Amino acid sequence: MKKIGIIVGSLREQSFNRIVAEAIPELAPGAEYAFISIAELPLYNGDLDKGPGPEPVRQFREAIAQADGIVIVSPEYNSGIPGVLKNALDWASTPTKTAALLRKPACVIGATPGAKGTMMAQQQIRQTLEAVQVFVLPFQKMYISQVTDKVDADRRLLTDETTRSYLQRYAEAFIRWIDQASTLN
Ligand code: FNR
Repeated sequence: MKKIGIIVGSLREQSFNRIVAEAIPELAPGAEYAFISIAELPLYNGDLDKGPGPEPVRQFREAIAQADGIVIVSPEYNSGIPGVLKNALDWASTPTKTAALLRKPACVIGATPGAKGTMMAQQQIRQTLEAVQVFVLPFQKMYISQVTDKVDADRRLLTDETTRSYLQRYAEAFIRWIDQASTLN
């Protein structure tokens, strides 16, 4: 079974993006999933980026290396990528020749209470991933707008059937993409 690492770009305990991320293993059970935390990572500092680096960085890079593919589920902040996520992707982008993310399949999902579904953040995330030669799932996009209407009253579960069904197809397309992308290496 393929191993998929899920990175959530929000550190908030009641994050809507986390709710969406947590629905994926149930909707697409054809892979093994592990959540990869970015909360403990220090701010990127080239002076710390020597050898294996700080322990949380070492663990983060190792978790990415162990995964066959990475799903990023992230909010949009000020029309762009959240700083905590950019920081994490930067740590995963070095050392350049052996970076954990290098030529790894990935896909991008985002949810917002707003109307535009994190479109602008996703463009920036894709741009960052491209810089690290990540094989980002092409063609399909997963923009979730008005997310507050798509979860249950306790704000724990993704309940909107249309979104769940699209998320299932998106995750299944990503599992197939992991095989397709391996021919690119
Ligand atoms: C936001 N939010 C937001 N939403 C959006 O669709 N476009 C945006 O540009 C922004 N900008 C923004 C900046 C900052 C600093 C914050 C804190 C929030 C709202 C954001 O989508 C909302 O808070 C989500 O609930 C955050 O995602 P999580 O934490 O629920 O996953």
